[in-house]
Amino acid sequence: MDRRFPDAADRVLLDAEALRARVAELGAQITEDYRGQDLRLVTVLKGGLYFLADLARSVELPLTLDFMAVSPYAAGVGGVVRVTKDLSDDIAGASVLLVEDVVDTGLTVNYVLSLLRAHNPGRLDVCTLLDKPARRIAEVPISYRGFTMPDRFLVGYGLDLDGRYRNLPCVASLRDEAVLS
Ligand code: IMP
Ligand code: MG
Repeated sequence: MDRRFPDAADRVLLDAEALRARVAELGAQITEDYRGQDLRLVTVLKGGLYFLADLARSVELPLTLDFMAVSPYAAGVGGVVRVTKDLSDDIAGASVLLVEDVVDTGLTVNYVLSLLRAHNPGRLDVCTLLDKPARRIAEVPISYRGFTMPDRFLVGYGLDLDGRYRNLPCVASLRDEAVLS
């Protein structure tokens, strides 16, 4: 048994091969859509890290990578987050693709989009590996979507539970009691 797996792992929903194949498809699509543009892939740490690394290598265009980090305010005011690391590059006029691990309620992505818009990108789109529409509160314009997932707590390939399990090579669901405890 792979010791990276939590005891509470329920099922592997997306194995490494499924992830690899879908990321390659998204990369090919982005390659077509952004030809000739000043493409910037922007990711919110830490969850999007693995997806970004694989996606960037499957886009056959010149591009740059940039990172933001946010942490929720203690009060948890509907998706409003505190920026703990801002962009390094000027994105004014550039074609920015926000690369996310998962869109759940949509509040986080929507807030990050509003922060990015303030930097006046020429184009701004969202690419998410996972879309969990069941709990959506804020409508999110998703241009590229890897997989639509059921309303389960997922770990692996960047997704964590209390900071752990990001390094699983697949996406697995956890048993409910593990998430609540
Ligand atoms: P939001 O609900 O769309 O604002 O998502 C907020 C954040 O919750 C995401 O960026 C993830 O960090 C986290 N999140 C949502 N669903 C999951 C999940 O199934 N596993 C791990 N983290 C998740
Ligand atoms: Mg997280």
